Amino acid sequence: MTVSPVSPARLTDPELHAGGDPHALWRWMREHEPVHWHAPDDLPGFWSLTRYEDVSTVYRDPRAFSSAHGVLLRPTAQGADPGGGLTLALTDPPRHQQLRRLVARWFSERSARQWEEAVRRAVRAVLARAIERGESDAVHDISARLTLHLIAGLMGVPEGDREDLFRWTNEAFEAGTSLVAHHETMLYFLDLMDLRTAEPADDLVSALVHGSVDGEPLTAEEVLLNCENLVGASENARLSIAGGFLAFLEHPDQWQRLRDDRRLLPTAVEEVLRWTSSATHSMRTATAARDLGGRRIEAGDRVVLWVPSANRDEAVFPHADRFDIARRPNRHLALGTGEHVCIGNVMARAQMRVLFTELLDTVRGFEQCGPYVPVRSIAVNGPEHLPIRLLA
Ligand code: HEM
Repeated sequence: MTVSPVSPARLTDPELHAGGDPHALWRWMREHEPVHWHAPDDLPGFWSLTRYEDVSTVYRDPRAFSSAHGVLLRPTAQGADPGGGLTLALTDPPRHQQLRRLVARWFSERSARQWEEAVRRAVRAVLARAIERGESDAVHDISARLTLHLIAGLMGVPEGDREDLFRWTNEAFEAGTSLVAHHETMLYFLDLMDLRTAEPADDLVSALVHGSVDGEPLTAEEVLLNCENLVGASENARLSIAGGFLAFLEHPDQWQRLRDDRRLLPTAVEEVLRWTSSATHSMRTATAARDLGGRRIEAGDRVVLWVPSANRDEAVFPHADRFDIARRPNRHLALGTGEHVCIGNVMARAQMRVLFTELLDTVRGFEQCGPYVPVRSIAVNGPEHLPIRLLA
């Protein structure tokens, strides 16, 4: 057996994900140690899963692998996730399905057709701004602005308040802190909840405030944490879109290929999702003992699914380390799969599709004009800053 390029223990080091080569380690782990035990340190002990098949198996079995105890690794000293058992991401069936049903309508293909025009307007506005400014940050000025304004729109945040929310979420994401700890954001949503309790509108906050699960209305805490879940989860959209810019900057032949043949747009979007895999891990807690990849997982054990690793598994993706916008089939797990599959998946895809189309229509191309700064995290990955110039 060859020696691992770096110790698997480094998987919990944000520096490996920001500046190292986690893919070299994951490649080694998929081959030699696909189900690997990490002894507890600041983090609780957990199993690392790196193969596509194992990751997919766990995602698809929410009864055997619970989300209610948290879906991200947290230092033991921080205690349990406050959203455990309360939010969409952190509930198990059957409660999870009922909660999801409350908000699913806003994220469906049908509703996407209604807000696709709003996406186009938002994309045009951010691109016009970026062209006017000359140099801009693909993260702050384009992807973050676009994604936050869209989710805020669905939630019912009035247009005049969205810049504030944009600033606050940037502060929280850049500090790597949970939105729950960001007072202005939480106070803002409490006010909005009050407004929508008195006067319901056709938006997500109203649906949560007036919705019920098992015949019981949601508590204020549940509504608030679900708002936080929806806004917080959109961080992935900003990272994958900005990561898309980076992927094309690093593979200009693929951008040219898209320019030459726009019919490749749908497969290009899927390949950007696979390639960027901005959600670095999802966690589950086993509800009963079982064997996985030849190892014995005990009830209560934490299992961590390394999504970018599954998406480069050579057993599923031929030439997995090649960015190929015509890749087909491309059954990546960037948006999860199974019952907790990303509820924002239609929206995430629509944003990318419209953005790439508008870029092809309005600019000759784009170039990097400053240093790329990666996010330092083990939960998400992608650009924190990516200075670019759109070539009008
Ligand atoms: C390309 C961008 C995105 C990526 C890569 C992404 C990734 C993911 C992944 C991997 C999951 C599964 C988590 C798990 O099972 O533990 C997930 C769930 C979720 N995503 Fe996304 N996401 C993206 C965009 C969005 C957007 C735009 C929203 C909109 C608000 C969103 C909201 C959510 C929510 C609420 C969940 C939990 C769903 C549930 O548990 O039923 N995501 N996402």
